[in-house]
Amino acid sequence: MAALCCFQLKLDSITAAAISPSKSQNHFRFHTSVSALASSSHSKPLDPQPLFSSVRSFAPATVANLGPGFDFLGCAVDGIGDYVELRVDPEVRPGEICISHISGAGSKLSKNPLWNCAGIAAIAVMKMIKVRSVGLSLSLEKGLPLGSGLGSSAASAAAAAVAVNELFGGPLSPSQLVMAGLESEAKVSGYHADNVAPSILGGFVLIGSYEPLELKQLQFPHDKNLYFILVNPEFETPTKKMREALPLEIAMSEHIWNCSQVGALVSSILQGDIEGLGKALSSDKIVEPRRAALIPGMVAVKNAAIEAGAFGCTISGSGPTIVAVTDNEEKGVRIGEKMVKAFMNEGKLKAMAMIKQLDRVGARLVASVP
Ligand code: HSE
Repeated sequence: MAALCCFQLKLDSITAAAISPSKSQNHFRFHTSVSALASSSHSKPLDPQPLFSSVRSFAPATVANLGPGFDFLGCAVDGIGDYVELRVDPEVRPGEICISHISGAGSKLSKNPLWNCAGIAAIAVMKMIKVRSVGLSLSLEKGLPLGSGLGSSAASAAAAAVAVNELFGGPLSPSQLVMAGLESEAKVSGYHADNVAPSILGGFVLIGSYEPLELKQLQFPHDKNLYFILVNPEFETPTKKMREALPLEIAMSEHIWNCSQVGALVSSILQGDIEGLGKALSSDKIVEPRRAALIPGMVAVKNAAIEAGAFGCTISGSGPTIVAVTDNEEKGVRIGEKMVKAFMNEGKLKAMAMIKQLDRVGARLVASVP
């Protein structure tokens, strides 16, 4: 039976990108090439040994897009996310991975690793580091609801990628783990790294380029208080469907407007200008209006947030969670209450508000057993 949910690595047919990371302080760059793959296979041991018998990892929720940054800007938020437990399992054939258990909000998810976000990312990391001496069992604890706009699939992928990497002593860089997570995102919800990159790296992350993958961490000043009000209604908006609602072409005027707002957003993040950040976050004229029509009550919820004093408000990821920002926690609670009310009054949807801050750490190991 275990065979049904196990995946065997075919090392001879690895097609995963060869990666030669160059890392400066806030900047990661990858080059994909056959020669890089050949040279990396000379320099790395072919059969890595596990450093631990089991590990437990956590990956935070994320807010992607942040308004005009569709598919290239996101940030991690603290206190909510997914956990993965990974152990060396003598009952699983060497080189294979098995999903033994899924708990929390993930009862609908497949236990076949080839069809599960955590499984796909784990397999990608196993391929990259060429695991073949041991079999692994993975258990996924979903803290994030599916299709919520909080980077649920990315958090599972990030937690799994980090768990496999850490079990073997951490041979891969965070950016290589993003590549593994991106394989999972591409298969499950679409080719975008604006959830998985911040979930792995923490903080605000800008995808400077996809080919080669280039990630820029945007440092938000430590002495500023930024609060995210996340209002999650009882409603599902699958990312795939919400991406299908987007136009293939846009007007030049929309392009100019959104680009100027992304510039304003990035500079506000770097300066810790929360008011400016909120204004730019609120300003998307391309994606938000098309998706708002698919989330009952969204426009009223946004208006309620702004009227209650939020600096800005938009759809988190592909929704239905709505995100607003402020600089004060108590104010955040009051804004959240108004947003929840508006969801009920205008959208006829029950919703729940959470006040969160930036997670500056990203996906990490939380326990290990030698
Ligand atoms: N950038 C993606 C989208 C994020 O908006 O479709 C999904 O969470």
